[in-house]
Amino acid sequence: MRTIITYGTFDLLHVGHVNLLKRAKTMGDYLIVGLSTDYFNTLKHKQSFFSYSDRKIILESIRYVDKVIPEKTWKQKKEDILQYQVDTFVIGDDWKGKFDELCSFCEVIYLPRTDGISSTIIKENLRDDS
Ligand code: CTP
Repeated sequence: MRTIITYGTFDLLHVGHVNLLKRAKTMGDYLIVGLSTDYFNTLKHKQSFFSYSDRKIILESIRYVDKVIPEKTWKQKKEDILQYQVDTFVIGDDWKGKFDELCSFCEVIYLPRTDGISSTIIKENLRDDS
């Protein structure tokens, strides 16, 4: 069985997220998502609209996602990869080059982002409309 892992905030789940998750799942059999907790988001200077628990419920309802775990710190990725015996680490290419040294025994793949959409863009559009 091939295990894939990816990370993110996944706020206001949108088609860019779904494309990423769908492509990640095609790379293996079991997809784990490390979901940023609300506290970790503050460290990243991000504020999500939906709480961690709501974002988790939404992600768990996606057919490509097998397991959601909390991402609480920058350095836990290495530990997660060992604990879950991850074969492939996948993330959008906005992170290209940032995780090249993450693990010696797993592959790191940067997937092209879907153009023209992000949680930030959605929030900005809603603000402009109000
Ligand atoms: N992602 C993507 N295409 C998009 C938006 C996001 O492939 N248009 C990917 C990111 O590269 C990342 C994952 O989805 O691997 C989760 O990204 P996240 O930062 O949670 O989503 P964004 O919409 O980029 O959020 P923000 O605007 O807050 O940065």
